[in-house]
Amino acid sequence: MKVKDKPFVLALPKGRVFDDFIPVLQDTEFALKDDPQNSRKMLLDTKRPEVKILVIRGWDVPTYITSGAAHLGVVGKDILKEKEEEEFVELADLGIGKCRLSLAGNENLLLGSSKLKIATKYPKAATKFMESIGIQAEIIYLHGAQEIAPILGLSDAIIDLVDTGKTLKENGLEEIKFISDISTRLIANKASLKTQSKLINEIKEALSK
Ligand code: PRP
Repeated sequence: MKVKDKPFVLALPKGRVFDDFIPVLQDTEFALKDDPQNSRKMLLDTKRPEVKILVIRGWDVPTYITSGAAHLGVVGKDILKEKEEEEFVELADLGIGKCRLSLAGNENLLLGSSKLKIATKYPKAATKFMESIGIQAEIIYLHGAQEIAPILGLSDAIIDLVDTGKTLKENGLEEIKFISDISTRLIANKASLKTQSKLINEIKEALSK
């Protein structure tokens, strides 16, 4: 593919955000032509030939956007808070993927504790929040399934996303403190905002309807 034929790339994260986002996208002129359920392709065609959809892990979306390998990206605010060193511009709150970041465990833990082991995949947000309530956090970094860590003695508590609260309840944990609201955001590469402003605005408007 020649450089001048390089497509405009919209990066989407696999999983829950992708499932929420596809119905929104399919109602626009940027709807997918490929069926994501039956395809292993990572760069999918849309109804607009110059626009491709890149399907990757959410944690990699800011990296693609910062480098300019992708122009626009859809990603949870939870991930953006951990990736503040990356250079992207947050364009819009898409109003999907709504949940919250919370401290969970056993409420009595907080009484008189000056240091706690916190299992999380959000080390920056966890350290900052625990500091704000006067407790030093020893971070146990996990990629997922944090809810089981306190029961098995790996940590004292967790800091993770809560939606319905079912995962906490079924693993014997209580939501102790709300930390922040989370939702899915649209982010852009800084240079692309200037060079591809027309297309970026079209996609932003299509997704905001
Ligand atoms: C998220 C989060 C919790 C769960 C909360 O995990 O990490 O485990 O959802 O949802 P609930 O309050 O409705 O039970 P997800 O299923 O996205 O998988 P992950 O472990 O890969 O993050």
